[in-house]
Amino acid sequence: MKVVKNTIDLIEEIKKIRSEKNAVILAHFYQEGEIQDIADYVGDSLGLSQQAAATNADIIVFAGVHFMAETAKILAPDKKVLIPDMAAGCSLADSCPPKEFAAFIKNYPDHTVISYVNTTAEIKAMTDIICTSTNAIQIVESLPKDEKIIFAPDRNLGNYICSVTGRDMVIWDGACHVHEEFSLERMLEIKNENPDAQIIAHPECEKPILIVADHIGSTTSLLNYSIKDEGMKYIVATESGILHQMRKSSPHKTFIPAPPKDSTCACNDCKYMKLISLKKIYNTLKYELPEITLEQKLMDMARGSIVRMLEISKSLKL
Ligand code: 13P
Ligand code: SF4
Repeated sequence: MKVVKNTIDLIEEIKKIRSEKNAVILAHFYQEGEIQDIADYVGDSLGLSQQAAATNADIIVFAGVHFMAETAKILAPDKKVLIPDMAAGCSLADSCPPKEFAAFIKNYPDHTVISYVNTTAEIKAMTDIICTSTNAIQIVESLPKDEKIIFAPDRNLGNYICSVTGRDMVIWDGACHVHEEFSLERMLEIKNENPDAQIIAHPECEKPILIVADHIGSTTSLLNYSIKDEGMKYIVATESGILHQMRKSSPHKTFIPAPPKDSTCACNDCKYMKLISLKKIYNTLKYELPEITLEQKLMDMARGSIVRMLEISKSLKL
């Protein structure tokens, strides 16, 4: 029996099986650097769903979390969609259970439901339009000014959209464990020691962090800002995986991960994203397991809200 021992072997084996099986590896920016480097496509939630919808591959291996792989399956139901670890969930998606959400939206019958892509297929099936952090503001603004809107599940992103657009949305009270863990106090200490550093933050962060941020945006937006901006130093308030692309794109610049409140833990790592490893990707490709399977009816009910987002996004300059 052939034993795959080290990282080099694993990378070679993954490349070999991927090509034999006409598979594609899609990786989110929050994955480990070595996974990002082997992926066919690395990107944010919007880019990943666009890639899944357009791929010609027979198999999609999703190096990300469950709701992302589920979205890929809904958009490409004829493809085999695999996730290297079924336990790679999302605290934000978990903060919006379908039963409670169904009861919640019943209280607002004349509202349009906009949900962040970080939701289960069941929530997407109850949603009118999905959004990601890249297009959230534009999706909300694509609706008439007087449209009544429910926004779910991230309260920080929802409140941020309200502050930018001047809208007053009904917001579900959910949050992400990574983005709520950043310490404003510790971040400002770093800023004091590095007065030339800019704070760049994901809109899932809490309001006090966003208030002091020099730039707010999705992972793609933060990355692009760090490339185009003339500054040399950034304190990055989002999951630490994005620093890999930032350092690759701007090796001459300094990127400091924003510190968490609890100094004893690496809370700026998403424990779910980091469940994925090269070894698990190799096993997933080889054995074609674990596979994302969803009921046809649920996929059909959830697809409309995602397709609507993709359609609106086509006409946007993002
Ligand atoms: P984006 O990929 O849209 O930047 O969102 C980050 C995120 O929280 C993914 O889980
Ligand atoms: Fe979910 Fe937060 Fe992890 Fe993104 S970083 S996958 S929102 S838990």
